Amino acid sequence: MASSSAAAASIVSLLLLSSSLLILSEAETSAPIVNGLSWTFYKKSCPKVESIIRKQLKKVFKKDIGQAAGLLRLHFHDCFVQGCDGSVLLDGSTSGPGEQEAIPNLTLRKEAFDIIDDLRLRVHKECGRVVSCSDIVALAARDSVFLSGGPDYEVPLGRRDGLTFATEQATLDNLVPPTANTTFILNRLATKNLDKTDAVALSGGHTIGISHCTSFTERLYPTVDPTMDKTFAKNLKESCPTIDSNNTVFQDIRSPNAFDNKYYVDLMNRQGLFTSDQDLYTDKRTRDIVTSFAVDEKLFFEQFALSMIKMGQLSVLTGNQGEIRANCSVRNTDNKKFLASVVDEEVSEEGWSAELRK
Ligand code: HEM
Ligand SMILES: *[C@@H]1O[C@H](CO)[C@@H](O)[C@H](O)[C@H]1NC(C)=O
Ligand SMILES: *[C@@H]1O[C@H](CO)[C@@H](O)[C@H](O)[C@H]1NC(C)=O
Ligand SMILES: *[C@@H]1O[C@H](CO)[C@@H](O)[C@H](O)[C@H]1NC(C)=O
Ligand SMILES: *[C@@H]1O[C@H](CO)[C@@H](O)[C@H](O)[C@H]1NC(C)=O
Repeated sequence: MASSSAAAASIVSLLLLSSSLLILSEAETSAPIVNGLSWTFYKKSCPKVESIIRKQLKKVFKKDIGQAAGLLRLHFHDCFVQGCDGSVLLDGSTSGPGEQEAIPNLTLRKEAFDIIDDLRLRVHKECGRVVSCSDIVALAARDSVFLSGGPDYEVPLGRRDGLTFATEQATLDNLVPPTANTTFILNRLATKNLDKTDAVALSGGHTIGISHCTSFTERLYPTVDPTMDKTFAKNLKESCPTIDSNNTVFQDIRSPNAFDNKYYVDLMNRQGLFTSDQDLYTDKRTRDIVTSFAVDEKLFFEQFALSMIKMGQLSVLTGNQGEIRANCSVRNTDNKKFLASVVDEEVSEEGWSAELRK
C-alpha cells in the first residue's frame, strides 16, 4: 500500500505522544471471569510472558503496523468458532483441512500465524512449554489494540489449546458475514451471550486494518447501496473497479492505522465499509450506541476492553482440558517427534539459561 510508510510514521508518533493513554486495571474493567482462568495465571510459571510479547510486538509493528489488525482479527475468529482454543492456528491435519482454509478464514493474514508461533517460541524458550497458543493470541490482540493507540487492559489467562479444529460449516455458522444486517448480528452474538452494546463495541475493531474489495463490492455493483455516502462510494469504485477486484482498502478512512473512535464517526457519515458496519447506525436499536462512542472515545475504550474480555473467555478450555501446544500450528499428538525435541530442550533449560546469562 502506497501510504503504509506514512502510516507507519504516524503510529510511531502516536506511540511516543500517547496523550490520551487509557490503562484499565482488572478492577476498573470489573469484568467477570470464568472458572479456570485467572488474572495472575503465569505469575509463578512465566512471569515475563506479557513483557516478552509486548516487547517483540513493538518491534514487529514498527516495521508494519498493519500486522496489529491481522492479530486482532485472529483472536476474534479464534473465539467465535468453538471458543478461544487456538484452533484457528491449526494446519490441516490427518483429519482434514484446517480452519484456516474455511472461506471466512481465507483473508486472515498469513503473517499473523507466523508472528504467533514466533512469540510462542520466545515465551517457551524463557519458561518452557507452559503458556498456551490461545493465551498468546489473546495477549497479542490486546497489545495490538494498545500499541495502535487503544486502551490497555488486563487479560484473564489460563486457556488451553484445543485438539481439533472446526469444520468449514461450523466456521460459517459462527462467524458473521459482512452482508449481515443488525438483526442477524444481534441474533448471532446473543448465542454467545454478547449483547447489542458488545456488538457495537466489538465492531469497533474495524477502526484498524484493511479489507479486500470482494468483502463489500456487492454494495457498489450493479448499483450503489443507498445507505452509502456518494463520494465514499465513488472513491471505493476507483479502488475496486470490478466486483471481483483483488485490491484492498482501509477500513477506517479517517485514521486507518490508529485504534480510536473514528470508525463510529465514519458510520455517522455513511462511510461504513460493510453492511454489517453501516446498519449499526441505520438500525434504531444500535444507533444511539454508535453515536455515544463517536462523541466519547473514553466510553468506547472502556466498553471495548470489557467486551474483549468477555469475547476472550468464550468456551475456553481450562485445567486439564486440551493441551499446551509445542507448535501452534500442530496439535501435540500429531507432533511426537517435535515434542520429543522440546522435552530435551526443557531438560537442558537450566544449562541453557546459564549460558545466556554469561
Ligand atoms: C460483526 C461482525 C463482523 C464482521 C461481519 C466482520 C467482517 C470482516 C471482514 C469481511 C473483514 C475484511 C476481510 C478481508 O476482506 O480482508 C474484516 C476485517 C477485520 N476485522 Fe472484522 N468482522 C466482524 C467483527 C470483528 C471483530 C469483533 C473484530 C475484533 C474485535 C474484528 C476485527 C477486524 C480487523 C482488525 C480486520 C482487519 C484485518 C486485517 O487488516 O488484516 N472484526 N472483518
Ligand atoms: C476459521 O477460524 C476459526 C478461528 O479459529 C477456527 O476456529 C475455525 O476452525 C476456522 N474454520 C475453518 C473452516 O478453517
Ligand atoms: C435481516 O437479514 C435477514 C436475513 O439474514 C432477513 O431475513 C431480514 O429481513 C433482514 N432484516 C431487515 C430489517 O432488513
Ligand atoms: C485476482 O487474482 C486471482 C488469482 O491471483 C486471478 O485469478 C484473478 O483473475 C484476479 N482477478 C482480477 C479481477 O484481477
Ligand atoms: C510447526 O509446524 C509446522 C507445520 O508442521 C512446521 O512447518 C513448522 O516448521 C513448525 N515450527 C517449528 C518452530 O518447528
